[in-house]
Amino acid sequence: MVCLGNICRSPLAEGILKSKIDSSRVYVDSAGTGHWHIGDEPDKRSIAVGKKYNIDITAQRGRQFSATDFDNFDLIYVMDNSNMEDVLALAKTDLDKKKVKLILNEIFPGENVDVPDPYFGGDLGFENVFKMLDEACEKIADQL
Ligand code: 4NP
Repeated sequence: MVCLGNICRSPLAEGILKSKIDSSRVYVDSAGTGHWHIGDEPDKRSIAVGKKYNIDITAQRGRQFSATDFDNFDLIYVMDNSNMEDVLALAKTDLDKKKVKLILNEIFPGENVDVPDPYFGGDLGFENVFKMLDEACEKIADQL
């Protein structure tokens, strides 16, 4: 699960997907394309909306996406089209590129819709992000 900062959207996506899969079978992690929040806790507003729905993301720490992630993961879900560009720029092979998917295409196939970045908005943005990610992760968990 990849976003820009790895403190708002992708930590929620990681926590939500983990809650829907068997962790002995599927490894889920998240990262940001940017470096600003390496080692940081998720944003307090993401922690709060997660807690509201019984998803505890407090143990997560920010890390930056790197080219080696293509070797370690089979599927890479990005939150928006800008994350898609940044991640694809690090791909070395066509196989790498095929691993990258826009997460909301799971629920709106082919529409290339972004998960809006809630960082500069209010709490409602985080609630909306949670709902979108919950629906998308339900689809992903079914496929896994
Ligand atoms: P995220 O939100 O990509 O959903 O984690 C952001 C958090 C922080 C920043 C940008 C986006 N930032 O520029 O610090």
